Amino acid sequence: MSALDTRDTVALVPAAGRGERLGPGAPKSLRHLGGEPLVVHAVRRLAAARSVAAVVVAAPPGAAETVRGLLAPVVSAAELVVVEGGDTRQASVAIALAAAPSHCDIVLVHDAARALAPPGLADEVAAAVRAGHPAVVPVLPVVDTVRQVGPDGVASSTVDREVLRLVQTPQGFARSVLAEAHATAATGGRKDVTDDAGLVERLGVPVHTVPGHASALKITRPFDLVVAHAVLAEESGVQ
Ligand code: CTP
Ligand code: MG
Repeated sequence: MSALDTRDTVALVPAAGRGERLGPGAPKSLRHLGGEPLVVHAVRRLAAARSVAAVVVAAPPGAAETVRGLLAPVVSAAELVVVEGGDTRQASVAIALAAAPSHCDIVLVHDAARALAPPGLADEVAAAVRAGHPAVVPVLPVVDTVRQVGPDGVASSTVDREVLRLVQTPQGFARSVLAEAHATAATGGRKDVTDDAGLVERLGVPVHTVPGHASALKITRPFDLVVAHAVLAEESGVQ
C-alpha cells in the first residue's frame, strides 16, 4: 500500500456561506452547476480521494437535513457528518472540527466553493501532512502583474510576483495543530484571517506548499460559474 492509500484523513467542508458575490439566490453551496449543487460536486470529489475516511460538512443555517439528503448517495466509501455552520468561515470550520471523528489524525479543510478540485489534490496535500509537514497549502503562481494602488486610485510600486503565490484549498493539517490554532483564535479574537493556514501560522508553525490545480478555482462571482462549466465539460470529454 502506498502512502497515498492510507485512510486516515477527515475532510471538513465549510459550505455555510451565503454567496453574496454570486448574486441573489440560494446559499452558494446549494446553487447548481451542471445539474448538481456545488456542495455535491465538492464532496463527491473529496469522498473519492484515497486518503479520506470521513467528510464533515458545515451546512447553511437550517439546511443540514437537506444537505445530508443530497450527500448520502455520494459518500458511500466515507463516513458523513453534517452540522450547521456559523457566522463566519472560521466559525464554520471550528464547528466542523469539533464534530470530526476522533480516529482521523489528518484534517483537510476544503471550501465547498472550490467545487471542482480533483480528488488527487486532496491526496497530495494529505500525503504531505503524513510526511511530516503540520500545515500544507496548494498554491498557484501569479500570472498577472501585481501593483499597489493607493486610495486615490493611483498605482504605486509593482510587487515582485516571482515571490507571490495564490493559495487554494484543500489545506491540510495535523489535527492537533489545527485544533490549537482554532482554540487560540477563539480566545484571541482576531477575525481578519481568511484561511486556516493563516491561523496556524500565528502559532509559529511553518506552512508547506505543494502545487495547486487550476480546477480548484474558487467559484465567487457569476463568471466563475462559466469557467466551472467549461471545466466540467472538459472532464466529461465534451468539446
Ligand atoms: N463559509 C462558511 N460559513 C460562513 C461563510 C463562508 O462555511 N459563515 C464557506 C462558504 O460556504 C465557502 C467558503 O467558506 O464554501 C469560502 O467562502 P466564500 O467563497 O467567501 O463563500 P461565501 O461566503 O458564501 O460567499 P460571499 O463571501 O460572496 O458571500
Ligand atoms: Mg465569504
